[in-house]
Amino acid sequence: MRVARLWLTDFRNYTSVEAELAAGLTVVVGRNGEGKTSLLEGIGYLATLSSFRGVPNEALVRSGAPRAVVRAEGERESRSLIVEAEIPTSGRGRVLVNHQPLRRSRDLLGALRITVFSPDDLELVKGGPAGRRRYLDDVLVSLHPKHDALRVDVERVLRQRTTLLRQSGGRLTAEIATTLDVWDAQLVEHGEALVAARLELLQRLEPELTKAYAGLAGGGQVSARYEASWPMDGGLAAALAASRANDLRRGVTLVGPHRDEVALGIDGLPARTHASQGEQRSLALALRLAAHAVVREVTGEPPVLLLDDVFSELDAGRSHALVELLPSGQAVLTTAGPVPEGAEPERVLRVESGVLS
Ligand SMILES: Nc1ncnc2c1ncn2[C@@H]1O[C@H](COP(=O)(O)OP(=O)(O)O)[C@@H](O)[C@H]1O
Ligand SMILES: [Mg+2]
Repeated sequence: MRVARLWLTDFRNYTSVEAELAAGLTVVVGRNGEGKTSLLEGIGYLATLSSFRGVPNEALVRSGAPRAVVRAEGERESRSLIVEAEIPTSGRGRVLVNHQPLRRSRDLLGALRITVFSPDDLELVKGGPAGRRRYLDDVLVSLHPKHDALRVDVERVLRQRTTLLRQSGGRLTAEIATTLDVWDAQLVEHGEALVAARLELLQRLEPELTKAYAGLAGGGQVSARYEASWPMDGGLAAALAASRANDLRRGVTLVGPHRDEVALGIDGLPARTHASQGEQRSLALALRLAAHAVVREVTGEPPVLLLDDVFSELDAGRSHALVELLPSGQAVLTTAGPVPEGAEPERVLRVESGVLS
């Protein structure tokens, strides 16, 4: 879906705002703290029903207001579409498509897809494995909403298993063992399916990653290798059985998709520990560009690009290369400074204290 018009009500620092977005590039200009990121976050919410800043939904509601509303009008396969989400400060929100409430909010996923670039993306390369797992899983959900169900199932079983491990006080009674068997079987089923999807995705991503990285950095061989937290040829069931005594003692599940890693390398060296800051930044951008390319290829539709303040962090060379590499389609870019060189916005919005002009 392409977004033609966006409405935010009591969302972050916006009381009520309507924005018209270009079919191509829209640039949002404003000083820090005026509401640039919040605008992108509003668009993003309709794609994922969460904030790309990784904060709880309550933080999105303008302080003092009972609920926020985000609405977008756009086009999909040349049919007009209106999607709307209510975000209450507590309880469940409502989601409407063409004014009809959806039975399950999750059914909205797939209507609008986004690719977000943010300065925090550097953490994808420099930070711990959780960020890289989340990157893969987010792309999977973009590719197909069924992956959201899979991710939720894995998280649920892990929570149940953890509760049981803690309740056991480290002792394996017959009763505990029976219940553990049930959770383990479910974790194997959903966990192995998730890992299989991650592996397949990584295979699609790797060539795009190399291409994007070369475009940004001028060369270098990028690798992205999945490192499971268990010996994969033996299967997760065997690994869970082998780990059971340790899991009971520690009160956590020590093997599974929630402990896996994606090792990123440049020219054969680990990117997290060996790459320069500039190389790490290029690799972070390349991860987003690669995800965008794969989602576009698989779904046949380019996600809306949301570029949050990314050019301020880049040197002139990389900034120019990114502008050159940006795929066609709809893009919304925020900046506190000038419009990046070479970018040709069809529309410029100015934001001051949650008011657009
Ligand atoms: N829930 C909220 N209610 C009211 N104001 C908020 C809320 N969340 C954030 N803000 C304020 O919104 C302003 C805009 O934030 P942001 O969009 O991140 O700015 P920018 O990206 O332009 O630097 C900030 O001043 C922030 O304090
Ligand atoms: Mg910002």
